[in-house]
Order: sequence, then C-alpha cells, then structure tokens
Amino acid sequence: MLTKPKGTYDVLPKDAIAWDKLESTIRKICKIYHYDEIRTPIFESSDTFHRNTADTSDMVTKETYDFKDRSDRALTLRPEGTAGVVRAYIENKMYATSGLSKLYYIGPMFRYERPQKGRSRQFHQFGVEALGSNSYLLDAEVIALGTSVIKALGLKGVKVKINSLGDTETKERYHQVLTEYFSKCQSELCEDCLERLQKNPLRILDCKVDCGKEFFKNAPKIKDYMTESAKSHFEGVLKMLDEMKIDYEIEDRLVRGLDYYCHTVFEIQADIPEFGAQNALGGGGRYDHLVHDLGGPEIPGVGMAFGMDRLLSACQLAGKNLYQPPYLHIFFIGLGQASKEACLTQMNICRLGGLYCDMDFLGKSLKAQFKQADEAHAQFTCILGDNELSQFKINIKNNLTEEQTTISLYEVYPYVLNQIQQRSACAGCKEKEEK
Ligand code: HAM
Repeated sequence: MLTKPKGTYDVLPKDAIAWDKLESTIRKICKIYHYDEIRTPIFESSDTFHRNTADTSDMVTKETYDFKDRSDRALTLRPEGTAGVVRAYIENKMYATSGLSKLYYIGPMFRYERPQKGRSRQFHQFGVEALGSNSYLLDAEVIALGTSVIKALGLKGVKVKINSLGDTETKERYHQVLTEYFSKCQSELCEDCLERLQKNPLRILDCKVDCGKEFFKNAPKIKDYMTESAKSHFEGVLKMLDEMKIDYEIEDRLVRGLDYYCHTVFEIQADIPEFGAQNALGGGGRYDHLVHDLGGPEIPGVGMAFGMDRLLSACQLAGKNLYQPPYLHIFFIGLGQASKEACLTQMNICRLGGLYCDMDFLGKSLKAQFKQADEAHAQFTCILGDNELSQFKINIKNNLTEEQTTISLYEVYPYVLNQIQQRSACAGCKEKEEK
C-alpha cells in the first residue's frame, strides 16, 4: 500500500471544514487590517533562501528540501513565506507603485525536521509582511493583527513574548560582547554552538542543548547594548501595545530562529500543557535589510507567521470547535428512473440558483435515501414518484417543522428560497428582540 511521506498529513473532508473556517477567519481579519493576499510559488530558486554561507539558522542550514530539476536548476521547497514574498516584491517592483505594501499569504511550507507533535515536514502557515516603512507603529499593527486572529478563534491564555535585537550598530556591539563572553566558555559549548560562535554568536542564545547551563543564563543581555534610536523604536512598539491593551512580556533571551531579524522580534505562545515545547503558535519581527540582501533597494519590512496546524490543534485542545456540520437545502428522492431524471433536472435549477442540493446516485432503497437526507442535514426533502411526475407535481417536506405539502414541480426553487429567506428574516428579528 502506498503511504504518505513521513512528516506529512492528509486533511480529510471532515477536518477540511475546520481548515476552511480557519482560513475564512484569517482572510476576514486581513481585510479588516487592509492586507492584500499574495500567492508565490511553493518552490523558489535555492538562492532565495540560501543567500550566503554566513547563514546560521537551523532552518536554512539543515532543514530545507533542496533539489535539482531536470535542467539542473537548484531549487528549494519554501521553508517559510517571507523570503519568497520579498523576492516577488522586488521582482514585480511593487515598491515602485506603492509606498507601503501590506501583504498576507496562506499556504504549505516544507522543513526537513524530526516529525513530532506540532512539527511536520509539510505544514501550513498564515503570514503577513508589511514592506516600506520603518515605523514602530507598523510593528505594533502586525502584532495587533496576530492577536486579533487568536481572539477571533476564541483562544485564551495566549502570550506575546517580545524582544528587540536593535539596529545594525546594536547588533555589531552585541556580537562582539557575545563573542568575548562565549569564547571563555568554549569547553561547555555544544558542537553546533562552537560553530555558531565563529559565524553568529547570537544564534547560541537560541540553542536548545545549552540553554539550561549556568554560563548561558548569565550571558550578557542585548538591552544593555542598545543604541538610543533602537531603544526608542522598541519603546514605541511597547507603548502602542500598552495603548491597544495587548498583553506582552519582554523576553530578553528571545532571538528567533532566522538570521534576517533586527529591532522587534516576537512570538505568540499558547499556554496549552499538551503543546509541550512546541508552544509557539506564531512569531515574527522586523527585517530592515532583507529586501536589499535579496537584490532590491533598501526597504524595511516587518511581518509574522502562524503555524495553522498549531492554531487548529490549539482550538481543538481548548474546546473551541471550528467544525460546523455541513448541511443541504434540499435532498431529492426520485422513486423511479423517470423521476430520478426529473430530480436531477430540478436539482440543477436549484443549484444554479445557489441552493445546496444532492440526491442518491447508488440506487439506494427509499429508507436508505431518507437516512442519507438526514445525515446530510437536509432542510427540505423533495420526493417525486412517477405518479406526481405525470401531474408535474412534487412532495416537499420541511425537515425542521415536519410539514409536508405538494407543489408544482417547477416551483421547487422559488418555494425553498422563499422559505429560507422568511426563516432568516425571522431569525434576524429574534436576534434584535433578544438584544
Ligand atoms: P517561524 O517561527 O520559523 O517564522 O515559523 C512561524 C510559525 O510556523 C511557528 O511559530 C510555528 O507555529 C509554525 N511552524 C514552524 N515550523 C513548523 C513545523 N515544522 N511544523 C508545524 N508548524 C511549524 C517564520 O517562518 C517567519 N517567516 C515568520 C515571519 C514572517 N517573520 C517575519 N515575517
């Protein structure tokens, strides 16, 4: 039997409903915040991700799916959305037509990681990238958008962990301080950190092996080396989070797993015990040099991405059910072959008018067809026997009220539409009365 590749999963129809709901929530919030959708390829030229040999993030150095196509081009399955979006932004000269581009994306990403709870090799991200402004207001807006998604899903106990990596001058100062500090503890560093010490000592702060050790806990903190302008950018972001009443915690060891960040970095974590170490629902930060590093002009950017799989498990564990049972407006039952044909024709008219309809195609018994209508949560069942057909009539049952009536065969669509509209008008009035 063929099986799916390790670290991947199938989304079966029942689960696809929750995915659909999640995606529509995300799209709605992006519209509210005035972010436009962008769709980029799931594979890019490898240089988009492997920009230089100084890359030190695990994701870029160890986890990408790299391959050659039949013309020997080096390609990489995207491990994240930011680099591809920035590539598209530059290639399509989006900076020339718009001062600020606010973009969002939804789609699969690929990382060759050890599959475990909360970590797959193909997973889905929803992300936003705002390109064109270095204002701290935009960092705050991106975080606000992220927390709005969480709120809209009804998740509680969610924390924003935030830090600043400062500007280039701050990073250079801190780089030097960390190099001196960690050079003195070389005997205690893991193999990876020894390499990180040479290339980018900041990455040591992200190490899952050394993080419990004493020397690690006593490492110098970046906040003590910030330039005045970097400090004021960070203070601006925090002020806005306070103003917008967004809960956050400053985490001065937070550096994030990607090399392109500067200034604000943040993670949105879920306080869900079952999540264990993989508790980051999302994360992001500012990247003021990535556009330039990928061959574009010096244009700053800020963004974030959520793991959609993790958002869904968080909802499930928190008892927030995104699953809404599907329903039909009408289930048609034809009792003879001619009636079945007439049902299909009427059903098509109703479908063209936007009603959700279905009928049996397997030659099921009458009882089994009623059961099918029930399981499909049909609001109406239309039953057509050859007798009624000869008089151009059809029986229709309102499954909610159990009322049955006979109408003209050609009236099914207007009849059901009218009933549905009346019901939703009543529901609207009732809602108003309750308010
Ligand atoms: P990231 O932290 O690498 O950031 O990924 C963002 C989120 O994707 C994580 O918080 C997690 O929820 C989810 N995620 C990552 N790896 C996996 C995996 N193997 N399985 C399931 N979920 C996973 C980025 O990707 C940046 N591009 C975010 C960003 C956008 N920064 C600026 N703009």
